Amino acid sequence: SKKILLIPAAGVGERMKIGYPKQYYPLFENRTMLEVTVNRMLGMSIFDRVAVVVSENDAYIDRCRFEGAVEIHRCGGDTRAQSVLNGLTALHAEPDDWVFVHDAARPCIDKESIVRLVDTIESEAVDGAILALPVTDTLKWVNDDAMIEKTIDRSRCFRAQTPQVFQAQALLTALQNAIEPVTDEASAMEMQGARIKVVEGSAFNIKVTYPEDLKWVRSYINQLSL
Ligand code: C5P
Repeated sequence: SKKILLIPAAGVGERMKIGYPKQYYPLFENRTMLEVTVNRMLGMSIFDRVAVVVSENDAYIDRCRFEGAVEIHRCGGDTRAQSVLNGLTALHAEPDDWVFVHDAARPCIDKESIVRLVDTIESEAVDGAILALPVTDTLKWVNDDAMIEKTIDRSRCFRAQTPQVFQAQALLTALQNAIEPVTDEASAMEMQGARIKVVEGSAFNIKVTYPEDLKWVRSYINQLSL
């Protein structure tokens, strides 16, 4: 089975307040965030196919320069999950191909983390795996008035990152059947009772959401190797 990288990049990125989608923010050496993410992952030589999902009216993708073969699918949806579902459909993957879904907005992804994910799906009896980090803060569950009701056992809590990897057919079915809105692929797979392992990610692998995130990402990108 193949390893396919699927990058949803069809968001608007409103919280960045830059007037255009954040994946096209110039991040490093005149390269946009999307180019940095894709080119770093092409350089890992792990994926058999690399695909990017953009919105139908995307005006920036044609100007991107990628350092390898990239399939562009102009079928983004209104939500991240819809973009992934549309992209997955357009891929025409084999049912047992492994699809690694990774946010365009996480340009600091490192090869070591991806290798840990690959080792997990290849050596363990799992339906999928996701990068995640343990929580270090103490966690409080509150009511509507911000009054604490209880403390959550943080040793059981992880912060989900991407990539998240599942087999193509299983992920397609899960996303089609997800009844509640899902913010990641694992949520949809969990609803199907899938066995999904949490694999150690990296603190550098942050998602650029707010303008202040760029400061960190810029300095990380300068220091990071693959
Ligand atoms: O907005 P957020 O940070 O959650 O987006 C995560 C990733 O999902 C980004 O790469 C964004 O471009 C993508 N996305 C998408 N289609 C949407 C919304 C977000 O591909 N409708």
